[in-house]
Amino acid sequence: MSPSSKERPIGIFDSGVGGLTVVKEIMKALPRESIIYLGDTARVPYGIRSPETVLRYSRENARFLISEGIKLLVIACNTSSSVSLQHLRQSLDVPVIGVIEPGARAAVAKTKNGRIAVIGTETTIRSNAYEQAIKAINGSVEVRGIACPLFVPLIEEGWIDGEVIRLVAERYLSPLKYDNFDTLVLGCTHYPIIKHVIAETVEAGLIDSAIETAREVKKVLEANDMLNRSGGQPSRRFFVTDAPEKFREMGRRFLGHELTSVSKIVLGGE
Ligand code: DGL
Repeated sequence: MSPSSKERPIGIFDSGVGGLTVVKEIMKALPRESIIYLGDTARVPYGIRSPETVLRYSRENARFLISEGIKLLVIACNTSSSVSLQHLRQSLDVPVIGVIEPGARAAVAKTKNGRIAVIGTETTIRSNAYEQAIKAINGSVEVRGIACPLFVPLIEEGWIDGEVIRLVAERYLSPLKYDNFDTLVLGCTHYPIIKHVIAETVEAGLIDSAIETAREVKKVLEANDMLNRSGGQPSRRFFVTDAPEKFREMGRRFLGHELTSVSKIVLGGE
Protein backbone atom coordinates (compact mmCIF):
# COMPACT_ATOMS: atom_id res chain seq x y z
CA MET A 1 0.00 0.00 0.00
CA SER A 2 1.41 3.42 -0.94
CA PRO A 3 2.01 5.97 1.84
CA SER A 4 -0.87 8.14 0.60
CA SER A 5 -3.28 5.15 0.58
CA LYS A 6 -2.33 4.52 4.20
CA GLU A 7 -3.62 8.00 5.04
CA ARG A 8 -7.10 7.03 3.90
CA PRO A 9 -9.67 6.96 6.73
CA ILE A 10 -11.09 4.02 8.62
CA GLY A 11 -14.84 3.81 7.92
CA ILE A 12 -17.14 2.97 10.82
CA PHE A 13 -20.92 2.64 10.88
CA ASP A 14 -23.72 1.97 13.31
CA SER A 15 -27.44 2.62 13.41
CA GLY A 16 -26.90 5.64 15.66
CA VAL A 17 -24.65 6.85 18.47
CA GLY A 18 -23.65 3.35 19.68
CA GLY A 19 -20.71 3.05 17.31
CA LEU A 20 -19.14 6.05 19.02
CA THR A 21 -18.10 3.60 21.75
CA VAL A 22 -15.97 1.91 19.08
CA VAL A 23 -14.74 5.27 17.71
CA LYS A 24 -13.59 6.25 21.20
CA GLU A 25 -11.51 3.08 21.58
CA ILE A 26 -10.09 3.30 18.03
CA MET A 27 -9.04 6.91 18.64
CA LYS A 28 -7.26 5.76 21.81
CA ALA A 29 -5.56 2.77 20.19
CA LEU A 30 -4.79 4.46 16.85
CA PRO A 31 -4.54 8.23 17.39
CA ARG A 32 -2.96 8.87 13.97
CA GLU A 33 -5.76 7.33 11.97
CA SER A 34 -8.41 9.42 10.24
CA ILE A 35 -11.97 8.30 10.87
CA ILE A 36 -15.19 8.67 8.98
CA TYR A 37 -18.29 7.66 10.90
CA LEU A 38 -21.82 7.08 9.70
CA GLY A 39 -24.75 6.84 12.14
CA ASP A 40 -27.93 5.82 10.34
CA THR A 41 -30.03 7.84 12.78
CA ALA A 42 -33.03 8.09 10.46
CA ARG A 43 -33.52 4.32 10.66
CA VAL A 44 -32.40 3.50 14.22
CA PRO A 45 -33.13 1.08 15.89
CA TYR A 46 -31.93 -1.77 13.68
CA GLY A 47 -32.38 -4.35 16.41
CA ILE A 48 -36.12 -4.74 15.95
CA ARG A 49 -35.92 -5.20 12.17
CA SER A 50 -35.67 -8.32 10.04
CA PRO A 51 -32.23 -9.62 8.95
CA GLU A 52 -33.08 -8.75 5.30
CA THR A 53 -33.79 -5.11 6.19
CA VAL A 54 -30.67 -4.80 8.35
CA LEU A 55 -28.59 -6.27 5.51
CA ARG A 56 -30.03 -3.75 3.04
CA TYR A 57 -29.31 -0.83 5.38
CA SER A 58 -25.80 -2.17 6.05
CA ARG A 59 -25.01 -2.40 2.34
CA GLU A 60 -26.14 1.18 1.82
CA ASN A 61 -24.00 2.37 4.75
CA ALA A 62 -20.97 0.48 3.43
CA ARG A 63 -21.46 1.84 -0.07
CA PHE A 64 -21.44 5.41 1.23
CA LEU A 65 -18.25 4.86 3.25
CA ILE A 66 -16.51 3.11 0.35
CA SER A 67 -17.39 6.08 -1.87
CA GLU A 68 -15.53 8.24 0.67
CA GLY A 69 -12.34 6.23 0.03
CA ILE A 70 -11.97 4.25 3.27
CA LYS A 71 -9.14 1.71 3.66
CA LEU A 72 -10.91 -0.55 6.18
CA LEU A 73 -14.52 -0.92 7.33
CA VAL A 74 -15.66 -1.48 10.91
CA ILE A 75 -19.24 -2.61 11.39
CA ALA A 76 -19.63 -1.00 14.81
CA CYS A 77 -23.03 -2.55 15.31
CA ASN A 78 -23.70 -6.03 16.64
CA THR A 79 -27.05 -6.25 14.92
CA SER A 80 -25.51 -5.49 11.56
CA SER A 81 -22.43 -7.66 12.25
CA SER A 82 -24.67 -10.60 13.12
CA VAL A 83 -26.44 -10.53 9.76
CA SER A 84 -24.17 -8.75 7.26
CA LEU A 85 -20.53 -9.44 8.13
CA GLN A 86 -20.07 -12.35 5.74
CA HIS A 87 -21.87 -10.59 2.93
CA LEU A 88 -19.84 -7.38 3.26
CA ARG A 89 -16.57 -9.33 3.59
CA GLN A 90 -17.31 -11.10 0.35
CA SER A 91 -18.51 -8.09 -1.58
CA LEU A 92 -16.01 -5.37 -0.58
CA ASP A 93 -12.36 -5.14 -1.43
CA VAL A 94 -11.27 -3.56 1.87
CA PRO A 95 -10.85 -5.54 5.12
CA VAL A 96 -14.12 -5.69 7.09
CA ILE A 97 -14.19 -6.09 10.87
CA GLY A 98 -17.31 -6.83 12.90
CA VAL A 99 -17.80 -6.56 16.65
CA ILE A 100 -18.96 -10.08 17.48
CA GLU A 101 -15.81 -12.17 17.00
CA PRO A 102 -13.62 -9.85 19.13
CA GLY A 103 -16.25 -9.76 21.91
CA ALA A 104 -16.67 -13.54 21.86
CA ARG A 105 -12.90 -14.08 22.11
CA ALA A 106 -12.59 -11.74 25.08
CA ALA A 107 -15.53 -13.39 26.85
CA VAL A 108 -14.10 -16.89 26.48
CA ALA A 109 -10.74 -15.64 27.77
CA LYS A 110 -12.42 -14.04 30.79
CA THR A 111 -14.89 -16.63 32.04
CA LYS A 112 -13.71 -18.84 34.89
CA ASN A 113 -16.82 -20.95 35.32
CA GLY A 114 -17.68 -21.36 31.62
CA ARG A 115 -21.02 -19.50 31.89
CA ILE A 116 -21.39 -16.43 29.68
CA ALA A 117 -24.47 -14.22 29.29
CA VAL A 118 -24.90 -11.95 26.28
CA ILE A 119 -27.22 -8.95 26.13
CA GLY A 120 -28.15 -7.40 22.80
CA THR A 121 -30.95 -6.38 20.50
CA GLU A 122 -33.68 -8.80 19.50
CA THR A 123 -32.15 -9.39 16.07
CA THR A 124 -28.68 -10.04 17.49
CA ILE A 125 -29.94 -12.45 20.13
CA ARG A 126 -32.25 -14.23 17.69
CA SER A 127 -29.37 -14.68 15.23
CA ASN A 128 -27.40 -16.73 17.81
CA ALA A 129 -24.26 -15.12 16.37
CA TYR A 130 -22.58 -14.82 19.77
CA GLU A 131 -23.42 -18.36 20.77
CA GLN A 132 -21.93 -19.64 17.50
CA ALA A 133 -18.82 -17.48 17.81
CA ILE A 134 -18.26 -18.48 21.45
CA LYS A 135 -18.88 -22.18 20.83
CA ALA A 136 -16.52 -22.12 17.86
CA ILE A 137 -13.78 -21.09 20.31
CA ASN A 138 -14.82 -23.36 23.16
CA GLY A 139 -17.71 -25.76 22.67
CA SER A 140 -18.17 -26.47 26.37
CA VAL A 141 -19.02 -22.89 27.37
CA GLU A 142 -22.66 -22.28 28.24
CA VAL A 143 -24.18 -19.18 26.63
CA ARG A 144 -27.44 -17.41 27.46
CA GLY A 145 -28.73 -14.53 25.34
CA ILE A 146 -31.06 -11.85 26.67
CA ALA A 147 -32.67 -9.25 24.39
CA CYS A 148 -32.93 -5.77 25.90
CA PRO A 149 -34.89 -3.83 23.25
CA LEU A 150 -35.64 -0.74 25.36
CA PHE A 151 -32.01 0.17 25.97
CA VAL A 152 -31.25 1.55 22.49
CA PRO A 153 -34.19 4.01 22.25
CA LEU A 154 -33.46 5.29 25.76
CA ILE A 155 -29.76 5.78 24.96
CA GLU A 156 -30.55 7.50 21.64
CA GLU A 157 -32.81 9.86 23.65
CA GLY A 158 -29.90 10.58 26.00
CA TRP A 159 -31.59 8.91 29.01
CA ILE A 160 -28.34 7.35 30.13
CA ASP A 161 -28.65 8.05 33.84
CA GLY A 162 -31.43 8.29 36.40
CA GLU A 163 -34.41 6.29 37.50
CA VAL A 164 -35.88 5.09 34.20
CA ILE A 165 -32.76 3.45 32.76
CA ARG A 166 -32.03 1.88 36.17
CA LEU A 167 -35.52 0.38 36.40
CA VAL A 168 -35.28 -1.00 32.87
CA ALA A 169 -31.84 -2.47 33.59
CA GLU A 170 -33.09 -4.06 36.79
CA ARG A 171 -36.01 -5.60 34.95
CA TYR A 172 -33.84 -7.10 32.17
CA LEU A 173 -30.81 -8.11 34.18
CA SER A 174 -31.94 -9.13 37.65
CA PRO A 175 -32.69 -12.76 36.59
CA LEU A 176 -28.97 -13.11 35.87
CA LYS A 177 -28.17 -12.72 39.55
CA TYR A 178 -29.48 -16.17 40.30
CA ASP A 179 -27.90 -18.02 37.41
CA ASN A 180 -24.24 -17.87 38.22
CA PHE A 181 -23.00 -16.30 34.99
CA ASP A 182 -19.58 -14.85 35.71
CA THR A 183 -19.21 -12.94 32.41
CA LEU A 184 -21.63 -10.60 30.64
CA VAL A 185 -21.03 -9.48 27.06
CA LEU A 186 -22.34 -6.03 26.17
CA GLY A 187 -23.51 -7.33 22.80
CA CYS A 188 -24.67 -3.99 21.46
CA THR A 189 -22.37 -1.05 20.87
CA HIS A 190 -24.86 1.29 22.54
CA TYR A 191 -24.56 -0.50 25.88
CA PRO A 192 -21.09 0.67 26.97
CA ILE A 193 -22.70 4.14 27.21
CA ILE A 194 -24.72 2.79 30.17
CA LYS A 195 -21.99 0.49 31.50
CA HIS A 196 -22.14 2.28 34.88
CA VAL A 197 -25.83 1.34 35.22
CA ILE A 198 -25.30 -2.26 34.08
CA ALA A 199 -22.35 -2.68 36.45
CA GLU A 200 -24.59 -1.66 39.38
CA THR A 201 -27.17 -4.27 38.43
CA VAL A 202 -25.07 -7.40 37.80
CA GLU A 203 -22.05 -8.89 39.48
CA ALA A 204 -20.55 -10.53 36.38
CA GLY A 205 -17.41 -9.20 34.67
CA LEU A 206 -18.42 -7.01 31.70
CA ILE A 207 -17.05 -7.45 28.18
CA ASP A 208 -17.06 -4.27 26.16
CA SER A 209 -16.63 -5.37 22.58
CA ALA A 210 -15.60 -1.82 21.59
CA ILE A 211 -12.23 -2.25 23.30
CA GLU A 212 -11.69 -5.66 21.72
CA THR A 213 -12.72 -4.40 18.31
CA ALA A 214 -10.22 -1.52 18.45
CA ARG A 215 -7.49 -4.07 19.24
CA GLU A 216 -8.55 -6.13 16.25
CA VAL A 217 -8.50 -3.06 13.95
CA LYS A 218 -4.94 -2.30 15.06
CA LYS A 219 -3.90 -5.91 14.48
CA VAL A 220 -5.36 -6.00 10.97
CA LEU A 221 -3.81 -2.65 9.97
CA GLU A 222 -0.42 -3.79 11.27
CA ALA A 223 -0.60 -7.18 9.61
CA ASN A 224 -1.46 -5.60 6.25
CA ASP A 225 1.04 -2.76 6.54
CA MET A 226 -1.80 -0.24 6.41
CA LEU A 227 -1.00 1.93 9.46
CA ASN A 228 -0.89 5.66 8.78
CA ARG A 229 2.65 6.68 9.65
CA SER A 230 2.47 10.22 8.28
CA GLY A 231 2.76 13.03 10.80
CA GLY A 232 -0.31 14.90 9.50
CA GLN A 233 -3.32 15.81 11.63
CA PRO A 234 -5.92 13.00 11.34
CA SER A 235 -9.45 14.02 10.34
CA ARG A 236 -12.62 12.93 12.16
CA ARG A 237 -15.76 13.34 10.10
CA PHE A 238 -19.22 12.27 11.20
CA PHE A 239 -22.28 11.71 9.04
CA VAL A 240 -25.85 11.01 10.08
CA THR A 241 -29.04 10.36 8.17
CA ASP A 242 -31.16 12.51 10.52
CA ALA A 243 -31.02 15.05 13.37
CA PRO A 244 -27.35 16.11 13.43
CA GLU A 245 -27.91 18.38 16.51
CA LYS A 246 -29.08 15.48 18.65
CA PHE A 247 -26.14 13.36 17.49
CA ARG A 248 -23.73 16.20 18.14
CA GLU A 249 -25.04 16.57 21.69
CA MET A 250 -24.74 12.84 22.47
CA GLY A 251 -21.33 12.76 20.82
CA ARG A 252 -20.15 15.65 22.98
CA ARG A 253 -21.43 13.98 26.13
CA PHE A 254 -19.93 10.64 25.25
CA LEU A 255 -16.60 11.52 23.61
CA GLY A 256 -16.05 14.48 25.93
CA HIS A 257 -15.41 17.02 23.18
CA GLU A 258 -17.33 18.81 20.43
CA LEU A 259 -17.79 16.95 17.16
CA THR A 260 -16.77 19.69 14.77
CA SER A 261 -17.83 18.00 11.57
CA VAL A 262 -21.31 16.41 11.59
CA SER A 263 -23.22 16.42 8.31
CA LYS A 264 -26.54 15.02 7.29
CA ILE A 265 -26.70 12.80 4.22
CA VAL A 266 -29.41 10.93 2.38
CA LEU A 267 -28.65 7.31 1.59
CA GLY A 268 -29.75 6.12 -1.81
CA GLY A 269 -31.30 2.75 -2.57
CA GLU A 270 -29.63 -0.11 -4.43
N1 DGL B 1 -25.66 -0.43 18.30
C1 DGL B 1 -26.28 -1.46 17.58
C2 DGL B 1 -25.87 -2.83 17.97
O1 DGL B 1 -24.75 -3.01 18.38
C3 DGL B 1 -27.65 -1.26 17.05
C4 DGL B 1 -28.75 -1.04 17.97
C5 DGL B 1 -30.05 -0.83 17.22
O2 DGL B 1 -30.05 -0.02 16.30
O3 DGL B 1 -31.01 -1.49 17.58
O4 DGL B 1 -26.61 -3.76 17.86
